[in-house]
Amino acid sequence: MLQLPGRAGKVPPVLPCMRKLTIAIDGPSGAGKGTVARAIAAGLGYRHVDSGAMYRAVGWKALGEGVPLDQEDAVAALAGAARIDVTAAAVTIDGVDVTRAIRTPEMDRAAAAVARLPKVRAVLVERQRQVGADGGIVMEGRDIGTVVFPYADVKIYLDATPEERARRRASDPSRSGVPSAVSDVATLLTERDRLDRTRAASPLYAADDAVVVDTTGKSVDEVVREVLDVVRAKM
Ligand code: C5P
Repeated sequence: MLQLPGRAGKVPPVLPCMRKLTIAIDGPSGAGKGTVARAIAAGLGYRHVDSGAMYRAVGWKALGEGVPLDQEDAVAALAGAARIDVTAAAVTIDGVDVTRAIRTPEMDRAAAAVARLPKVRAVLVERQRQVGADGGIVMEGRDIGTVVFPYADVKIYLDATPEERARRRASDPSRSGVPSAVSDVATLLTERDRLDRTRAASPLYAADDAVVVDTTGKSVDEVVREVLDVVRAKM
């Protein structure tokens, strides 16, 4: 039996755990994917995987090794040879803990640059599918519901206004070296979103069968409840 967080003040419902679902959460930067995906995974006892951290780790390694970020074969070879571990606690690549190092504006750009390369995506998508092979997973990213797990049991597309997303990003404590002015964050975020939405390889968009949740002006609890309602309907 599975215990889920319930509505405030009410006894949490206990649901029979029939099978371990695959839950895809996509959306632009700052829409709340990380916070919501973590909370949903914790509530269900599922694994949470931040697929963006994999692109960031590859960007970090390529920069460190002096591999130009537009050299598709070289970056894909580096990604294919690297051991990348993304857990709730840390992100490592070839044993190096890059948890904090990958959360900078420079790594935002590096991740988006390597994410444009189809051969790099092929390597990472394959890893993501392996990690999610047994279900019981909440994976967040840009193409999880459209490409990585097109048959996911639950697809959520989180969105929010650019202003709200920039405000959240500017106050995110996990980020280092971030410009403090919300307007600067907004400029960088809008540009990265544009790249993610317009690239040829797996651009960001909501799958036809995704439930779109606008998180603007909502608390984390509200959004988590909304998403859990969608999940419960599938159990
Ligand atoms: O989610 P996060 O902002 O950490 O992702 C960093 C970058 O990685 C994104 O801007 C996007 O270019 C890329 N990405 C992607 N597909 C994913 C996850 C992230 O292309 N599934």
